[in-house]
Amino acid sequence: MANKEFGVFLPIAKGGWIISKNTPPLDASYQQNREAAILADQIGLDFIMSMSKWRGFGGETEHWGCSLESVTMMAGIAEVTHHARLIATMHAGLHNPAVTAKMIATLDQISHGRAGLNIVSGSFKDEFEQMGEWDSNLDHDQRYAMTEEWTQLIKRLWCEKQVDHQGDYFNLKNCVSEPKPISVPRPYLVCAGQSERGLRFSVRHTDVCFIGGKDEEETRQISLMAKRIAAEYGTTTKTFCMSTIICAETDEEAETLAQFYRDGLDIEAVKSMMHSFGVDVGEKSNAMVERSQNAFMTHTAIGNPATCRKQLSDLLRECELDGVMLIFPDYIKGLTTFGEKILPQLRAEFA
Ligand SMILES: Cc1cc2nc3c(=O)[nH]c(=O)nc-3n(C[C@H](O)[C@H](O)[C@H](O)COP(=O)(O)O)c2cc1C
Repeated sequence: MANKEFGVFLPIAKGGWIISKNTPPLDASYQQNREAAILADQIGLDFIMSMSKWRGFGGETEHWGCSLESVTMMAGIAEVTHHARLIATMHAGLHNPAVTAKMIATLDQISHGRAGLNIVSGSFKDEFEQMGEWDSNLDHDQRYAMTEEWTQLIKRLWCEKQVDHQGDYFNLKNCVSEPKPISVPRPYLVCAGQSERGLRFSVRHTDVCFIGGKDEEETRQISLMAKRIAAEYGTTTKTFCMSTIICAETDEEAETLAQFYRDGLDIEAVKSMMHSFGVDVGEKSNAMVERSQNAFMTHTAIGNPATCRKQLSDLLRECELDGVMLIFPDYIKGLTTFGEKILPQLRAEFA
């Protein structure tokens, strides 16, 4: 059984990844993210990732209403961690490719070659319209075409002396980008597009497809689709998904805690989130929205440490995943237990 990768999704935005009034406060502060990142690095997680958000979802909890900027925050985290890969997020439509290339090369130098980039094509209109950066002439798939051109330019800027390019979306004139990244062959790239167009982009241009799915069966289908698309292109890809870990001493205690979080569901925030997702997906449902109607936005592992380990192991096997990114209601407690009682067993199982 091939090695699996384990990472953490930092609580960079207020409320983290459970839309509930009953969870321990996650305030989107650097202090909380820094502490979680240091611990994640110490317990030996493979990667630490932060998302990029420009607008929250309202409701009583003001979910994601406050968030730090991803690359700046990861630069701070690079100074206090030593081993884990650091994946920051940038939106293709918001940052010129030359700016992005240099920001990630800088993060790569600060982190001694641990930089990664989560590429977002951007589909949440409200986030971009507020800053005059929503191009309504581009539909979903055209935004991926723009993202493709953007990504190719960044890769060229990372290895070529000068880049000349007249394209559909970007023009570069003898554009230079120094220093080059120190990562070989280049900084790690990931994308979390869930549509077929998004998956095709991820497979061709990045190292990992982050996938969702409203249940395990859908996650498995998306994972297999990504691998099928990769085979079609004569290549391979990795698929990672997210899991929220609610761990306690006993299964009963963990289930009671999970129910307490579900009972605190902030329905107004969920409705607002649906609105923001709905703009682009039309009548189509979105896995994260469907999941979050019970407060959790992702797959969950709920139980004592052995139960959580078994659920994660089943998830990895059944959905043919290569890795999982962890979310906790309380990152310090959660990461501590995960590092002591779950990770060593999972490493042994998948060694
Ligand atoms: C693990 C994960 C991380 C994501 N990170 C971000 C992010 O930081 N910012 C953002 O605007 N969207 C983020 N997204 C949304 C995706 O980039 C993508 O737009 C969404 O899954 C819809 O897929 P599609 O673009 O193929 O339609 C994330 C999604 C997932 C599952």
